[in-house]
Amino acid sequence: HSVALIGAPFSRGQKRRGVDHGPAAIRNAGLTARLSGLGKGRATCSSGRVEKWPLADMTGAIRSLGLLHDIGFFYVLFFSLALGSISGHTRQCPHLCVIWVDAHADINTPLTTQSGNLHGQPVSFLLRELQDKMPLLPGFSWLKPCLSTSDIVYIGLRDVDPAEHYILKNYDIQYYSMRDIDRLGIQKVMERTFEQLMSRRQRPIHLSFDIDAFDPSLAPATGTPVLGGLTYREGMYITEEIHNTGLLSAVDLVEVNPLLGASQEEVNATARLAVDVLATCFGHTREGAHAVFDELP
Ligand code: ARG
Ligand code: MN
Ligand code: MN
Repeated sequence: HSVALIGAPFSRGQKRRGVDHGPAAIRNAGLTARLSGLGKGRATCSSGRVEKWPLADMTGAIRSLGLLHDIGFFYVLFFSLALGSISGHTRQCPHLCVIWVDAHADINTPLTTQSGNLHGQPVSFLLRELQDKMPLLPGFSWLKPCLSTSDIVYIGLRDVDPAEHYILKNYDIQYYSMRDIDRLGIQKVMERTFEQLMSRRQRPIHLSFDIDAFDPSLAPATGTPVLGGLTYREGMYITEEIHNTGLLSAVDLVEVNPLLGASQEEVNATARLAVDVLATCFGHTREGAHAVFDELP
């Protein structure tokens, strides 16, 4: 397999500037070299860039993300709204499931959102069961709900709005909050995640990884940091396990905002963490690998 990197510098999902510089920051932190180093023939990286969207045209931008995905291999998207990437990915893989790693559930509807920010709402647009709660919005008619509530599992939640909590509970959506991770341990959480998503059959995984799932001490350069997040080891364990399924089909790595670090060091640390997440998704292991040797020199 190869990995296509698609930097989608887009910041209109919320009001703060800078998150559109995230793809460049992650690329500059050595992403391509890390992925290329992951084994023979495996990670030939092509890099598509979607850098010319008119910033005013939000739905156009999200939509072009959806259209982009008619490529048939792994891809990594930084900074899209999952709206575009997941709906595009389901066109390619109709039976995919979603693992959503985030401090936030991003499942407000346009009628429940308190912030008005679209980055807090993408999941509601995607779920079939929520469609009778969705107002018709101009510019979104291209978007067809493509997921069921049983197709998604959340990991890392710790900042959920009341309406979001109502939705999670009432529609019986599976989630593992930070409290659940404290209680069960990350190993059980991953086991149960795969049980839930793959019980009937194996299917492609779309991973949406919001860097704010990590504790702010590890990922400070992000727009909505929340105390008490994933440790480095929990984050790596999540992505190692997802890699080990052999079912990972696409990754969104979102919310790295280089303008929000208090120092260059904070920005670099956040970008390096994003690279570690992606490298692990595509096969980097903490125990090492010896594929280059047929025998000891
Ligand atoms: N729940 C809040 C909202 O609706 C925060 C969402 C944060 N989302 C994110 N992608 N960082 O605005
Ligand atoms: Mn978040
Ligand atoms: Mn998010």
